[in-house]
Amino acid sequence: MRNDATFLGQVIRVDSSQVEVELSNSIPSAAPIIKGRLYKIGQIGTFVKMPMGNITIYGIVAAVSNRPFTDDSDGQNRAASRFLSVQLIGEKVGDGVFEKGIGTYPTISDEVHLVIESDLFEIYGERDGGSIEIGKHSSSENLSVYIDTHNLVLRHCGILGSTGSGKSNTTVSILKAILDGYAGSRVILVDPHGEYATAFPDAKILRIGDENTPLYIPFWLMTFEELAYFLVGADQRDEQKVEYRMLREIVTNMKKENLDLKAGAVEINLVTADSPIPFSVRALWYRMNWLLNATFNISNKDDQVDDQARMTAPGDAESLAPASFEPYTMGKDAPYKSKHQEYFSYEKKMLSRLKDSRFDFLFNPGDYKTAASPKDLHNLLTDWIGSEKKLAILDLSGVPFEVLDITIGLITRFVYDSMFWGRNEPYTGKKRPLLLAFEEAHTYLGKNDKTSYSKAAVERVFKEGRKFGIGALVISQRPSEISETILAQIGTLIALRLTNSGDQAIVKSSAPDNLSSLMGLLPSLRIGEAVIAGEAIKIPSRVRLKLNNPRPTSEDPKLVDSWSKEHTVSDDNYKSVVTRIREQKL
Ligand SMILES: Nc1ncnc2c1ncn2[C@@H]1O[C@H](COP(=O)(O)OP(=O)(O)OP(=O)(O)O)[C@@H](O)[C@H]1O
Ligand SMILES: [Mg+2]
Repeated sequence: MRNDATFLGQVIRVDSSQVEVELSNSIPSAAPIIKGRLYKIGQIGTFVKMPMGNITIYGIVAAVSNRPFTDDSDGQNRAASRFLSVQLIGEKVGDGVFEKGIGTYPTISDEVHLVIESDLFEIYGERDGGSIEIGKHSSSENLSVYIDTHNLVLRHCGILGSTGSGKSNTTVSILKAILDGYAGSRVILVDPHGEYATAFPDAKILRIGDENTPLYIPFWLMTFEELAYFLVGADQRDEQKVEYRMLREIVTNMKKENLDLKAGAVEINLVTADSPIPFSVRALWYRMNWLLNATFNISNKDDQVDDQARMTAPGDAESLAPASFEPYTMGKDAPYKSKHQEYFSYEKKMLSRLKDSRFDFLFNPGDYKTAASPKDLHNLLTDWIGSEKKLAILDLSGVPFEVLDITIGLITRFVYDSMFWGRNEPYTGKKRPLLLAFEEAHTYLGKNDKTSYSKAAVERVFKEGRKFGIGALVISQRPSEISETILAQIGTLIALRLTNSGDQAIVKSSAPDNLSSLMGLLPSLRIGEAVIAGEAIKIPSRVRLKLNNPRPTSEDPKLVDSWSKEHTVSDDNYKSVVTRIREQKL
């Protein structure tokens, strides 16, 4: 065996998951050529194996030194020696398959061998129906790396790396492999910067203001507390105020008036202000405005009811035209001024929200506006997760920053609820799982954000989603800013180059296979190169991903090209920019 070309040396120390190896002085070269391939001995991140009879134990080189890593006082002369610190990762019994985890440990003087390409081919195996190809092994262009689709999706996955490290490209690679590999797959990609449409020409792209496939998130999916916050800026402190309680009452009543639903028959007594039942938010504003501006035959507040009003023209809720009334007199005679002045600030805030076209996707949601509108929530679900296109990209680039969090929260909560309540249906839930991918996750899943609606909803997917067939994929450049609950539940970690030390520390500590040595490579990875570890991959690996075509529009601008040319700009050029800012249309 010692003449074996792969022989490296012997085990001299064994720790719980770490062994120390003394390289043999008789190795002819530090870079042997075996079966026509050059191997470099002692490269960090490469694999070694320890055959022990029927069992072969595998490990990863974590560190190299010219002296022992631990105590060197055993009197032996090791002047010419080199040492490897090896992290144990898994074993193979007989001709069986490689499995992570160690059942039998090597002991002192066990032989250590180089892992050559043919060993790795054996470990990764052939692609079968349960896996997708993610890229090629960094050490070998010929070696495809497969990941297990089931675990990748349902045990959740994270793609983490500094800006420009290739996360979006990696996301495209994975989603493409899933969509091409499985005719019944389905994926929703939450795309805050609207960069993925170009990479997936066949996907269903829902975008705010789009003529054919507009994105709507009906406001009536919000709980009352959320609605009160986003519509009139009311928070918990307002709960004691009379106008807050009255707003709740009006909303509840309006929902009760809209029970002629297209899906489901709701018992009227069970309707609350939180029920996901459509109503007209314009009618709500109109009612508040009416109460505020009406004049009455009677001055006593309790008697200032509708049939005592001195209305001259009814106005129109839909076009936000207020009702008109006879002017009140300053003296003691009718008509009297309305005493319903509590709504003063709510009415103003609501009107400015409703007039702001940036919020139309929420508060003026086209076919989903009221119970009388042509569409209901099942149509929304069909659009998002029932489309034959398998991938729905929710392009949120037109969503104003202040409502991005609630928008993603509503999307996630609604999709989760549909999978929860649909868990026994043959066409959804557990019978047809779903992958929800969240790009730029640090912007809305921040760990310090106590009141984040999206974080609460996404955390629930991470904690419970698997049982109802929802898996999640988070993509972020600032892992240290992401909710710890989410990081802790990531089953498969795809870590690209990461330069910030705080981010590196977080990724290292949340790496599923306790692989501090491989994670040490993070700052020195190339663009498009990743360390992949966890549930979906047989052996933690350093992988090169290919650059996709067509690409997402996240590519760097061609700065030098652009700056090398002279540009002439007329006044009209920027007119079209300002037009877009005003009209919120690309
Ligand atoms: N596998 C790859 N091989 C070669 N080049 C790549 C690869 N992946 C990405 N690139 C290049 O790197 C650049 C950035 O890639 P990408 O947009 O995927 O990065 P990112 O991590 O998503 O960045 P950001 O955090 O800014 O969104 C692109 O210009 C792309 O051309
Ligand atoms: Mg990106």
